[in-house]
Amino acid sequence: MPHDALLSLQTDHLNELQGRYESAMAEHGYDSLLIASGAAPYRYGDDQAWHFQGYGPFLHWTGLAGREHCWLWIRAGHRPVLWLFEPVDFWHANPVLPEEPWQTFIEVRSSASPRAPLLDDPGSLAVIGDPALISNVPGDANPDDLLRDLDETRVRKTAYEIECLAQANRLALAGHAVAREAFLAGESEFGINLAYQQATRQREAEAPYHSIIGLNEHAGTLHYQYYDTQPPGQPRSLLIDAGVRYRGYCSDITRTTAGPEESHFAALIHGLERLHLRLCDMVAPGVDYIEIHRKAHQGVATLLSATGLVSGLDDEAIVDKGITRVFFPHGIGHFLGVQVHDVAGKPTPPPEDAPFLRLTRRLEPGMVVTIEPGFYFIPSLLEPLLEGELGSYLNRELIGRLRGCGGIRIEDNVVVTATGSQNLTRQDPA
Ligand code: GLY
Ligand code: MN
Ligand code: MN
Repeated sequence: MPHDALLSLQTDHLNELQGRYESAMAEHGYDSLLIASGAAPYRYGDDQAWHFQGYGPFLHWTGLAGREHCWLWIRAGHRPVLWLFEPVDFWHANPVLPEEPWQTFIEVRSSASPRAPLLDDPGSLAVIGDPALISNVPGDANPDDLLRDLDETRVRKTAYEIECLAQANRLALAGHAVAREAFLAGESEFGINLAYQQATRQREAEAPYHSIIGLNEHAGTLHYQYYDTQPPGQPRSLLIDAGVRYRGYCSDITRTTAGPEESHFAALIHGLERLHLRLCDMVAPGVDYIEIHRKAHQGVATLLSATGLVSGLDDEAIVDKGITRVFFPHGIGHFLGVQVHDVAGKPTPPPEDAPFLRLTRRLEPGMVVTIEPGFYFIPSLLEPLLEGELGSYLNRELIGRLRGCGGIRIEDNVVVTATGSQNLTRQDPA
């Protein structure tokens, strides 16, 4: 999409947000609302701060993920005002805000102070943001009922948000392509991370989450967080779960690649990929997301039988006895937006058979979800299964051969449309 068209969609987005916010504020008796972008706290006993990424509602309006100590004031019937923190400071730079059409919708004022602005006639005021930063600001701090309704304004994405998420996908896909090449060329986890960052032109601190890059057994740790600087003697598998933030919006993509001599593991990846695409095809308005999660377990059971990893049990029993949860212990996915695990996914708690599921809603047009089935060889889950009464149904020899490959996850970002879905991850890279 041409950049001008995107910027024009952003103005529509802001108009829509103004309406959604005015309704939520009226519902809870507020005339105005002050949003704190946030600020990175200093590490205990140190003069260095943690990496900063802004507060969700602030990003929903501005997309300015790296701007600390800013304040946004929303009032019914008025133009929002953004106080942009621009201190007089010879230690640090103030980034220049490019001139864009959204600044006709939001009035931008410069502020040299990190403090909340003095508001002219705020009426009944709510203030939302990091409690440590808003505790001394007059007004109701983080009222629960209002926050719940503001989270709800983020559930059905506008056309602007969907286009930003699509671009975040295109940019990340370019990174995934070079990461795969780097793996096949024998790079270490560290080297693959550098290749991903180079291709996506994104600093680690700006990524929507810490990129998960695991070779061999490391691919079996769901949120593996280290990078070996040396490649393993025999590179058997790569799992990379990495995204990009674009104008505040996140992508969250996972790909798994088998090493050249891993035909069994490659076949397993192929099987999971086919299941993954079937699950993506289930995304449509009216579908209960929990049903997609349950279909994933049925698919994992079929894969366990078809590969001979489990025998002597039918697929239903493989699920009912909890065997699929050993190989696929996490949820099938979550909402995606200005936060990688976007808000409002669980108005009702997850069912007992899916304790880690982050989204329990029926799908509606405009929702954006991830679909991320996995299939892992996780020692701390496998050992009790192998040693317990179900161990005799498992093919120890085959598990022994595959466990060094760690695991598989395949993750796409999918929009619910009026009639079905659009997969943002199955498109050309940027
Ligand atoms: N990257 C974290 C997740 O997939 O949820
Ligand atoms: Mn995810
Ligand atoms: Mn992910």
